[in-house]
Amino acid sequence: MTGKFGDYQLHELLNSGGMTEIWSATDARGRLVALRRLQTGSLRGSAPKLFKHGREVLEKLARHPHIAGMLDHGKVDGIPFMALELIRGANLRQWTLREDSIIDENVSDVIVGMADALDHLHSHGWMHLDVKPENVMVDLRGHTYLIDFDTARKIPRKPKEFDVASGTPAYMPPEQLLGRPLDHRADIYAFGVTVFELLTRRKPFEGDRPDLTRQNQLNERFPVPNASQFNPAVPARLNAILRSCLEYQAEKRYPNMTVLNAQLHTVLGVENVRDKAR
Ligand SMILES: Nc1ncnc2c1ncn2[C@@H]1O[C@H](COP(=O)(O)OP(=O)(O)OP(=O)(O)O)[C@@H](O)[C@H]1O
Ligand SMILES: [Mg+2]
Repeated sequence: MTGKFGDYQLHELLNSGGMTEIWSATDARGRLVALRRLQTGSLRGSAPKLFKHGREVLEKLARHPHIAGMLDHGKVDGIPFMALELIRGANLRQWTLREDSIIDENVSDVIVGMADALDHLHSHGWMHLDVKPENVMVDLRGHTYLIDFDTARKIPRKPKEFDVASGTPAYMPPEQLLGRPLDHRADIYAFGVTVFELLTRRKPFEGDRPDLTRQNQLNERFPVPNASQFNPAVPARLNAILRSCLEYQAEKRYPNMTVLNAQLHTVLGVENVRDKAR
């Protein structure tokens, strides 16, 4: 339903999922924004708490060029909403299904943009826990944004058990699938799956059949393929980076996003925004 929502004029329903809907809208000052609100069917149960949590995480984060910023938040007729910077484009899943050349033309920037955003999030003490193509947006200029902080948790001092009900199994490391203690290295694994898929259009643990993904993820001896096996343009050093992200044991992955991010910038030849800021 288009029309008014508090001070906002709603235009087009951009996306809707399990509990939220995202509209393009104009605010009282005439700015075009993305209005993310809870669906009326999700005003009870755990959804409002999750939504509020995602909003609070975003509020605490310093602004970052690769994170869609929040402009406003509140409630209209009991429906919580947040107004976000409107990204004119699509999420990574939608882009790859469209087979639009914009993604391939900007693939290095997309990868380091995601890494920069995660590095920023982790350095603020949060892990995302739902890194996947649907939670990464790319605008029409090829600029990348990380979104959706509803499942974010504080990075524990040492790996800890979390009851994370949401999340998407194909992007979860074995420790998360098994309900074992985890930390920020779960995001490093999910980042590895997302980048592998971006480069090859398939998941690293699919093996012969997509329905074997979970079984392969949980098999410590599963031979993780090189991304270059499916996309010859992937350089050997990027293969190696992804294999490290996708290690079965968290101890064998990159210790943190900053180290991984720095290596990605070097290998992909993209200037580090951290350095630019200095
Ligand atoms: N700032 C934005 N600008 C434009 N589109 C957006 C923006 N934020 C989100 N979207 C679109 O809405 C989709 C869902 O956003 P988001 O991940 O924040 O919601 P969600 O909580 O995952 O939804 P649900 O849990 O209901 O599935 C994104 O994949 C994207 O297509
Ligand atoms: Mg989402």
